[in-house]
Amino acid sequence: MNIDGKPYRSIWLNDDGWSVSIIDQTKLPFAFEIAELRSLEDAARAIKTMQVRGAPLIGATAAYGLALGLRDDQSDNWIDDAAEILNATRPTAVNLKWALDRMKEALQNQPRESRVATAYETAKEISDEDVEVCRKIGEHGLGLIKAHAARKKGEPVQILTHCNAGWLATVDWGTALAPIYMAHDEGIPVHVWVDETRPRNQGAYLTAYELGAHGVPHTLIADNVGGHLMQHGKVDLCIVGTDRTTAGGDVANKIGTYLKALAAKDNDVPFFVALPTSTIDWKLQSGADIPIEERGGEEVKYVTGKLPDGTVARVEIAPDGTDAANFAFDVTPRKMVTGFITDRGVAPATPDGLLRLYPERMKKD
Ligand code: MRU
Repeated sequence: MNIDGKPYRSIWLNDDGWSVSIIDQTKLPFAFEIAELRSLEDAARAIKTMQVRGAPLIGATAAYGLALGLRDDQSDNWIDDAAEILNATRPTAVNLKWALDRMKEALQNQPRESRVATAYETAKEISDEDVEVCRKIGEHGLGLIKAHAARKKGEPVQILTHCNAGWLATVDWGTALAPIYMAHDEGIPVHVWVDETRPRNQGAYLTAYELGAHGVPHTLIADNVGGHLMQHGKVDLCIVGTDRTTAGGDVANKIGTYLKALAAKDNDVPFFVALPTSTIDWKLQSGADIPIEERGGEEVKYVTGKLPDGTVARVEIAPDGTDAANFAFDVTPRKMVTGFITDRGVAPATPDGLLRLYPERMKKD
């Protein structure tokens, strides 16, 4: 995607051929800063502190993190230990383990001297494939938006999204936002309701930033507004991303997604989940088995924003000593999901729907 006329991905290998750059998402939207990853520890810290976030980007960063880590030590033991360090950074997004497993598989049976090169090649493949996969998600989702546009007769298609599932959450394009970008680029009028997404405000800080940079009309709303909008016919469809979708069709995504799905169900608003293949956990059937990240309560008690004099400050919004709980994700049961938009097409949110898209999984796991 372009920022100030310059094309960017959310992660890239530098010209030196070994260090990796990311856009530091903890600084957005107040500053656009690039951070360099020069070691496995840098990559692990970037994931843990959410300098990078979003399931597919977490996976790509972990892959490059392993490559960085192998520069110092190419032994079998270290590959396992390094993968474990990276895998422990965040628990819910399954793309993390998916990417690390793929790296380990590529490195298996490789002579020590070619392991670093193989690791970088595989990390690049994972990143490049993510771009292509998200582009395909965009193309498949575009058909849904077009169908709504035909009914709206020139009025904008009203789409609600939660958290950030745009290009900043992936390597490029995004998942939930990819069809929206494509529709906008084709001249289809769209308008996006952007949930602010407390406590980390990915909607306000990142989704509004992305959509604004691309010129997509959007309106920021407080997290609890969606139900009201749906009751008043102001949302044509919801599209969200996911951090882990089970083979049974249950969907873990940013906290608050479930409440939007409930409101959508009650108001007959289609609720779609956009996902790459790497986000499907074929080993789990029930969403109840998805590990849900709990983060520090201070994220709930403080907000970061820009003061009138332009400085960025973090301020406390609760009385001293208040306890705060911070569940980062929730699970939306498949019965509330209208369908999945994947890189292989659109499918009903059922085990059979998924298996029709992935027939090769019928006999596995
Ligand atoms: O905590 P985050 O910011 O990593 O959570 C991100 C989300 O919940 C996204 O919606 C999800 O990763 C899908 S992004 C393609």
